[in-house]
Amino acid sequence: MSELKKIKEKFLLKIQSKLNPSEINQIKTDLFGKEGLITSQFKKIGSIAESERKKFASDLNLIKDELSDLIDLKSKEVEIEQINIKLRKEKIDVTLPERNFLRGKIHPVSQTIDEISAIFSEIGFNVEEGPDVENEYNNFTALNTPDNHPARDMHDTFYLDVNKEKLLRTHTSPVQIRTMMNGKAPFKIIAPGRTYRSDSDQTHSPMFHQVEGLHIDKNINMGHLKGCLNYFIKEFFEVDKIKMRFRPSHFPFTEPSAEVDIGYEIKDGKIIIGEGDKWLEILGCGMVHPNVLKNVKVDPKKYQGYAFGIGIDRLAMLKYGINDLRSFFECDYRWLNHYGFDPIDVPTNYRGLSR
Ligand code: PHE
Repeated sequence: MSELKKIKEKFLLKIQSKLNPSEINQIKTDLFGKEGLITSQFKKIGSIAESERKKFASDLNLIKDELSDLIDLKSKEVEIEQINIKLRKEKIDVTLPERNFLRGKIHPVSQTIDEISAIFSEIGFNVEEGPDVENEYNNFTALNTPDNHPARDMHDTFYLDVNKEKLLRTHTSPVQIRTMMNGKAPFKIIAPGRTYRSDSDQTHSPMFHQVEGLHIDKNINMGHLKGCLNYFIKEFFEVDKIKMRFRPSHFPFTEPSAEVDIGYEIKDGKIIIGEGDKWLEILGCGMVHPNVLKNVKVDPKKYQGYAFGIGIDRLAMLKYGINDLRSFFECDYRWLNHYGFDPIDVPTNYRGLSR
């Protein structure tokens, strides 16, 4: 048998056997590489007697084409086989039980902020935000609270520098200032967020939450304030009737000022909102003081309106039956598991939406 035939027979067998990709590469090198068998046959052409040269060259080309076609075919076959093996391995069994995982919960305060924002958004309030670290001007001075005003002590402020210029905001009212300084009247906003005072007991925590409300326009009066708060409280507690009273009070940044109490009673150890003859204070409010409007370049002869500041944590405690404020901020996973909300059924609290 000629040498060419031997090569052909040997490799035909090899190519037909079971191969993996690297074995195929090896065959390619053995045949067509620099030192490959076929390659060296080509090198031989010149030294072959002229009479046989033509036939040898054409036989060689035929064998070369035949072998390389077969190798290509085999490569494709092996490639497909590899893909099939991979697919078989990566098959997902959707009937397997899921792995255990810990599900996060939404904190009652976050939940309450979402509910409050939803209610006020429905009646045209925009939601604004301000920083926790405020300057003394926005937190006090612009809000008509002069240097020696007792409110500055009353607020038990956490100052962040010796000059008392930077502080942790003691209320969300500085967002009134920021909003009015950066915009143009009319204004209709709420601003929920964290607030800080040096205070700690069952109903006071050094960090707590408020939501500020501000509505400034032409001809806004106390009737609007009362209507708005009445609407909000009914929506929030999901009741048709609410007992609410305005008690005269004092804030430097509102005139007149009031605190708002809601009526409640305790039945079988549970708080019922809107009934009974007990009163609970939930917010401070009033008509924005003309000096505040002047400080933010709003003409008090043209524009006026109301502001309010609601304690969010207390509302959450009442609505969700949580009786120690401090437990809100202890980061106890068991507590959160009990009082927290599932992200999937975040209620907007709104009528009709199922919980
Ligand atoms: N900022 C006041 C407080 O923290 C509440 C308030 C806000 C009162 C707006 C009047 C108007 O006690």
